[in-house]
Amino acid sequence: MKIAVIGGGYVGLVTAACFAHLGHEVSIVEVDAGKVRAINAGEPPIYEEGLEELLTAHAGKTLVAGTEYGPVADADLSFICVGTPPAGDGSADLSYITAACRSIGEALRGRTKTHTVVVKSTVPPGTTENLVVPTVGVASGRNDLGFAMNPEFLREGRAVDDFLHPDRIVIGSADPAAGNSVAAVYRGIDAPAVRTGTTAAEMIKYASNALLATKISYTNEIGNLCKRLGIDVYEVMQGVGLDKRVSPHFLNAGAGFGGSCFPKDVAALIHLAEKQGEDPVLLQSVMEVNRRQPLRMVGILKERVGDLNGKKIAVLGLAFKDGTDDIRESRAVPVIEALLEGGAAVAAYDPLAVPNMRRVFPQIEYCARAAEALAGADACLLMTEWPEFSRLDGEFDLMKSRVVIEGRRVLSCDGKEGICW
Ligand code: UGA
Repeated sequence: MKIAVIGGGYVGLVTAACFAHLGHEVSIVEVDAGKVRAINAGEPPIYEEGLEELLTAHAGKTLVAGTEYGPVADADLSFICVGTPPAGDGSADLSYITAACRSIGEALRGRTKTHTVVVKSTVPPGTTENLVVPTVGVASGRNDLGFAMNPEFLREGRAVDDFLHPDRIVIGSADPAAGNSVAAVYRGIDAPAVRTGTTAAEMIKYASNALLATKISYTNEIGNLCKRLGIDVYEVMQGVGLDKRVSPHFLNAGAGFGGSCFPKDVAALIHLAEKQGEDPVLLQSVMEVNRRQPLRMVGILKERVGDLNGKKIAVLGLAFKDGTDDIRESRAVPVIEALLEGGAAVAAYDPLAVPNMRRVFPQIEYCARAAEALAGADACLLMTEWPEFSRLDGEFDLMKSRVVIEGRRVLSCDGKEGICW
């Protein structure tokens, strides 16, 4: 099939590369000319395991990127994969979606080929029906187009594998033909399909992310209590997670969730609920636990070393999780803010995320190795579960005092203290 993917960010690019892998002819429409050049040269502008291999195999052949919407006219389907960043009030900013819909509509104007417009971006329930359908309709002057909503469940760093081996494929459509055309694109992938209307598909994405975020905040609250009682929360959640009704995933206690999705999506869901006159107390608590959790690291630190003024604190790990250079909503950010407020000197290390964090905190020291950050430090806070941190041990002897507090369960050395274990 001929597919146009609108947006060459991490969702769009992974989607496009995987569709090409499934045997489709794919065009990416991306405004950033630099990204377009990189994609066509087979060089992924972002790091995702397995992506480079897919680009090498298909870029310039069945996967082509460009800045124009021309390829939409000739495609069987277009997938909207543009960003929906948070607006100031927590709601999702849909301006990129609106612009993409107008351009898709203009490209389809005067054409007669059957075409289905599919929303893959995470959008509030009702967006496909109330914004996408009318905007594309007006811009195209057509009333014969199909519309569908097909959310993604891709984890950063593992997106290619998640795409090709999903737990389920959710396809929301107003009419069965549009849904069938989306289902046909995924032929070759072995996963149950969940067919719904577009609004339910939109809600499935929010409800999934919010439940995963809830599992994390719940685990962290149990973890905080376990620490007071001298119980290992990891043992507890192993015992809890083996219950099939719970599942063992996303029960790792720590400094809280970050990234470009969970915080933004839970905030958008809260906004949506409040707009409907609901009081979403559970979701608000999920966010509140997550706001407080990283600050517990600083609380423990103060208990151990006293006043922070003039102390050197090593921060290991800046990315919101391991395997990425992404620092969006990283729990390291509020921790570094609190350390600086307390007058501490921060020496930070991360295998990938230093350039990104330097833009947020230009005033702190960045180190090329963990050992360098630890040398002479009064204490160390570990914020990201990078596997390489599990091998650290002798490096902690370089510290002025060996006070090591981990916000992720990753260290194997003696004498460390966990945030909630
Ligand atoms: C998340 C979802 O997992 C994807 O299914 C979804 O498609 C994606 O958001 C999205 O909406 O696009 P991602 O943000 O890449 O994916 O990251 P996760 O691997 O889910 O981790 C999110 C945060 O939760 C990280 O800070 C991680 O360290 C934290 N986490 C995760 C925990 O604190 N404990 C856990 O047990 C698991």
